[in-house]
Amino acid sequence: MSQAKVLFVCLGNICRSPLAEAAFRRAAQEAGLDVEVDSAGTANYHVGEPPDPRSIDEARRQGIDITGYRGRQLGAEDFHEFDYILGMDRSNMANIARVDPGDGKAKVTMLLDIVPGQEGREVGDPYYGGAEGFSITWAEVDAGAKALTAILIDEHS
Ligand code: 4NP
Repeated sequence: MSQAKVLFVCLGNICRSPLAEAAFRRAAQEAGLDVEVDSAGTANYHVGEPPDPRSIDEARRQGIDITGYRGRQLGAEDFHEFDYILGMDRSNMANIARVDPGDGKAKVTMLLDIVPGQEGREVGDPYYGGAEGFSITWAEVDAGAKALTAILIDEHS
């Protein structure tokens, strides 16, 4: 696999998966990995919209501009296009499974399942909470991004 293609998936594609995309872009860049990264939602509520302002603020606190990201919905073709599809919580995983055509190449996993010691934990939905929830989300998706980077470095060495 010369260029790994990675897709992060949540429900709306405006809170968690854009932050996961941003964290992984940076982790991969710092590791010198050639990757293609995107994010998507299983729902169509926010297609074409920028991330939630609270995600934009959290990314800015981390020194990353995500204002240009736009929401899109997960589709069956994504399972052929991407090597990894990473959902945030169990509800996402059930929704992802409903779209999975079954003959794609993607490894489909819940994000924190690849983080040593955090297996089985969900990246909780911060949408209905306050801004502080987005800092927790960042810490969680950043741990997942770093774990995935380590896996890809391992696969390529
Ligand atoms: P996300 O959060 O899945 O992390 O993007 C949500 C965003 C929007 C909604 C729910 C969760 N919504 O119901 O509109």
